[in-house]
Amino acid sequence: MISGKIKKYHVLMIVVFLICSLLLAACDNSQQPADSETDKDNGTSQEQANKKGILVVSFGTSYPDTRKATIEACEEKIAASFPDYEVRRAFTSKMIIKKLKERDNIEIDTPEEALSKMKEDGFTEVIVQPLHIIPGIEYEEVLTVVNEFKDSFKEITVGRPVLYGIEDYKAAVETLKLQLPELDKDQAVVLMGHGTSHPANACYSCLQSVLSDEGLNVFVGTVEGYPEIDDIIAKLKENKIKEVTLMPYMLVAGDHASNDMAGDEDDSWKSILEKEGFAVNIYLHGLGENPGYQDLYVQRVQDCIDGNPLGVEEE
Ligand code: CO
Repeated sequence: MISGKIKKYHVLMIVVFLICSLLLAACDNSQQPADSETDKDNGTSQEQANKKGILVVSFGTSYPDTRKATIEACEEKIAASFPDYEVRRAFTSKMIIKKLKERDNIEIDTPEEALSKMKEDGFTEVIVQPLHIIPGIEYEEVLTVVNEFKDSFKEITVGRPVLYGIEDYKAAVETLKLQLPELDKDQAVVLMGHGTSHPANACYSCLQSVLSDEGLNVFVGTVEGYPEIDDIIAKLKENKIKEVTLMPYMLVAGDHASNDMAGDEDDSWKSILEKEGFAVNIYLHGLGENPGYQDLYVQRVQDCIDGNPLGVEEE
């Protein structure tokens, strides 16, 4: 009898709590349109006023084939995954934008131009998803531009690049496995990361650490940072590697991959490694071609929608 009363009391408390939660949620929702500038100005309902967009930002490339296979493939996957959102493109490299305009008469916006247009076109919710690999200079520039537009939209969020939190490194390595060949003891993959003078160059060492912990014969070098190819050669010799597959650890297989990595000039990684006596294979595909990497970007957009753009693990 007593336990029956306690049970009823508990049920009553839960019901009261639920009603309170519902009322609070209702109040919260009803306040949103009133707070919104757009709704005040236009007097339209929230449904009509919400125009949602995703701006996919990459460095860009002037190589049309790899652009199609990597950048466009990522954009298309994002568009297919979020049909309520209009997907637009921006490149951060002014040099590539200029080259494409002059050579191919292709117009591509900078992030600033793209966001200005989205503002003019009445977007209210914008997700900016960079396809960059590390949170380096380019990513910080995206953050700066987005900050300038923070009052132009009801909501604007930036997704994180590939290498960010600890779980991101683990996911990136799992995804890389999809494109790794079977490796014998004396075979290795050498990744060509871009590298940077920015402190985010440390990302490559963290990536190396996770790869090594996985027991993979994969070594990360960079073309414009640390470690350089000479540092990698020392490691290859230490590990008695005879045969190397070169792979870009970049979104696209563009200029760096085609020339600095796989080119026939004396100073390409291929030539340097061959001169050192290694057998060299070339894998000339950007990460953006790997469906797993495309999915990593889709997940980052989803994390923005879920209010967790930095992918912070719940405690
Ligand atoms: Co470069």
